[in-house]
Amino acid sequence: MRLPQHLAIIMDGNGRWAEQRRLPRIAGHRKGVETVQQIVRSCREKGVRYLTLYAFSSENWGRPDEEVGALMSLLGVYLRRELKTMLREGIQLRVIGEISRLPVEVQGVLADAVARTADRSAMTLTLALSYGSRDELLRAMRQLGNEVAAGRLDPAQIDEAVLTESLDTAGLPDPDLLIRTSGEMRISNFLLWQIAYTELYFSDAFWPDFTEEELQRALDEYARRQRRFGLTGSQLRREDHH
Ligand code: IPE
Ligand code: IPE
Ligand code: MG
Repeated sequence: MRLPQHLAIIMDGNGRWAEQRRLPRIAGHRKGVETVQQIVRSCREKGVRYLTLYAFSSENWGRPDEEVGALMSLLGVYLRRELKTMLREGIQLRVIGEISRLPVEVQGVLADAVARTADRSAMTLTLALSYGSRDELLRAMRQLGNEVAAGRLDPAQIDEAVLTESLDTAGLPDPDLLIRTSGEMRISNFLLWQIAYTELYFSDAFWPDFTEEELQRALDEYARRQRRFGLTGSQLRREDHH
């Protein structure tokens, strides 16, 4: 079965999962962390090479202080607890986003986990934290602008590859499949440049209810799709025979 090399997930619906149960929103985030653990393990077992999880957006900073604080402390707890598993399972951790906005102690735990897993190669787990695609593109453009101003870069040299390698996701292939949970059908400022030809899959399950079976359903559907990249179906069938 054709498996996505790079799977990206917008993990949405923690708050509604909790509200449905008359629990505080943070209870949904806590349950969501369990789903993260299961899905990471499951992707690793299935042989997904790159898994990218949207965990906190640039816009999420606007939520009530109490929720933001609880999310940051959950993040620290998760990273400290999962480091051993990542090392054992051969998982390399990466982060994308404006990491300097995170609390310094979280930045420290992150830097430590990224450094210690740098030589692991079974799967690359990328966490999008304080991430917004427009913010990422602006930072990349500013950096390229500085290179041009300093005379180190000719604007004519700026092509797709140069911009791609200036983004936080430098070195990662574009996602093959993007899953969003909780029934919302929008991108919410996630990987706008990188998903130009990504297959999209929407699940109605809230993230805390997203199971391995749900994941398998998405992977099965991905395997059935024909990606054409602007070409015709018959051109691609000919390619298949080569
Ligand atoms: C996703 O769940 C987690 C984060 C954005 C941090 P939400 O917190 O957005 O849950 P809903 O969308 O309010 O249900
Ligand atoms: C997107 O979810 C961000 C993450 C999953 C981290 P949101 O809940 O923030 O998105 P909107 O506000 O519904 O678009
Ligand atoms: Mg949401």
